[in-house]
Amino acid sequence: MERLQKVLAEAGVASRRKCEELITAGRVQVNDEVVTVLGVKVNPASDTIKVDGRLIKQQKKVYVIFNKPKGVITSASDPEGRKTVTEFFKDIKERIYPIGRLDYDTEGLLLLTNDGDFAHLLTHPKHHVPRTYLATVKGTPHGTLLDKLREGVQLEDGMTAPAEVEYHDIDPDKKETVVRITIYEGRNRQVRRMFEAIGFPVIKLRRIQFGPLALTGVPRGKYRHLNKDEIKDLIKSAQEAGKADVKSHNIQKGE
Ligand code: URA
Repeated sequence: MERLQKVLAEAGVASRRKCEELITAGRVQVNDEVVTVLGVKVNPASDTIKVDGRLIKQQKKVYVIFNKPKGVITSASDPEGRKTVTEFFKDIKERIYPIGRLDYDTEGLLLLTNDGDFAHLLTHPKHHVPRTYLATVKGTPHGTLLDKLREGVQLEDGMTAPAEVEYHDIDPDKKETVVRITIYEGRNRQVRRMFEAIGFPVIKLRRIQFGPLALTGVPRGKYRHLNKDEIKDLIKSAQEAGKADVKSHNIQKGE
């Protein structure tokens, strides 16, 4: 059994929030009875669900890896009229949405799906799915500064968790350095803020890996569907990272 608004959203009716509004407005029927309260659970396989009298059908689940160009916003619409990721998926009829976010100016690996459970699993802070970025900065930050990033830096919203950090490419004239960084959290603008904290603002940022999945063979601005093994590996890595976290938490508590 699943929440009605989730079933509606996954059928591509609208976003989950909009679907809640449809329910409270009395536009949704389950087995020919109008439902106006939130929290009702339904069985999408056996219940008859209608919106404005029209039967809704469950969509097939879609999972894609996209190489986001810079200058594109990671949301379905933008009040400022900027280009959005949805413009790249006009040939996918299911209503897919991004798993997490990349900044307007960040490029690289972005996953999209219409599977709410999958998206939730991969973005839940408890699961610490690693995300790897190539960050280009002006000049060359000294090794001791990179150590700070490895140990954790103080940001407005608290200390960052330990990160993996290494030089990826150093320009012999030391004009620019590319640093490879893996973080286990998904806070807003986190990588940019971490580098700002050590005095080396990022001038270019590209995500190259998400959990076990690398961004190889997907040209900029293009996407491909994930295969079954890739989907399974992503699920497994999130579940295992979550379990490892529970264990270390219990050890700390002496259990
Ligand atoms: N960290 C950032 O600073 N920006 C992103 O887009 C992703 C991670």
